Amino acid sequence: MKGIILAGGAGTRLAPATLAVSKQLLPIGDKPMIYYSLSVLMLAGIQDILIISTPAHLPQFRQLLGDGAQLGLRIDYAPQAEPNGLAEAFVIGAEHIGDDQVTLVLGDNVFHGPAFSELLTNSTRNVRGCVLFGYPVTDPERYGVGETDETGRLVTIEEKPVRPRSNLAITGLYCYDNDVVDIAKNLRPSARGELEITDVNRTYLDRGQAELISLGRGFAWLDTGTPESLLQAGQYVQMLEHRQGVRIACVEEVALRMGFIDAKACHELGVRLAKSSYGQYVMAIAEELAGSR
Ligand code: G1P
Repeated sequence: MKGIILAGGAGTRLAPATLAVSKQLLPIGDKPMIYYSLSVLMLAGIQDILIISTPAHLPQFRQLLGDGAQLGLRIDYAPQAEPNGLAEAFVIGAEHIGDDQVTLVLGDNVFHGPAFSELLTNSTRNVRGCVLFGYPVTDPERYGVGETDETGRLVTIEEKPVRPRSNLAITGLYCYDNDVVDIAKNLRPSARGELEITDVNRTYLDRGQAELISLGRGFAWLDTGTPESLLQAGQYVQMLEHRQGVRIACVEEVALRMGFIDAKACHELGVRLAKSSYGQYVMAIAEELAGSR
């Protein structure tokens, strides 16, 4: 299974914060936004990851994450020259995907919930067709919206419908079999001129190959698109981290717990950040787990 993080877009609703910096590099709590989507792929056990962003922002991501080896990952980078839509990720990433399956996560999506790693590894194992993740929201018209029948099976998907048929948003996390590359290559741009991920998903739905997993009430899928929602996401993260003393989306910790790196390597990553409480946390986790790894 390969991974792709799509971290494009101009972040216009967050300007001027995004005039010189990629939206996906703005902090949520004490770490860059992209750590949250990166940790989702890592928790799914994915180590081969392509980051797609605008040509202007790509060097910033490279500076942050390098080739990924320090986290036991292989990270490549590819530009999306124009904002041609999410589904273009599979055209840009065709070589990276090869003949494998692929999980796409949007770089501005934040997920947090119990047993997420198990859910992810189960749902990304042997994907036939696609696996989508639904989440109930009060403003479904802002998202892809899924409608299910009484058995929970997906029956329709619409992109930003004026009159949503349900309150179930399709989140920015998608698992596909290898057909996704051909499906994306054959898409036509939508009315807004983009290759729509919802059209990819609808193709699978028409084939009877779209599975929907509902993320329930105990889950958090947070929005980061406006100054207010970005601040709220930061407050959510800070509140849980402060209360529990554990960090959400600490990629060094995830790499250690997933067995991608050992405790010594993790500790060294913490030492480089030792002046911040984040770095001190990384060192403490490495020391705590040193005996067990
Ligand atoms: C995109 C997708 C939409 C999905 C959303 C999740 O919307 O088009 O289907 O629900 O991501 O974040 P956009 O962020 O491009 O408005």
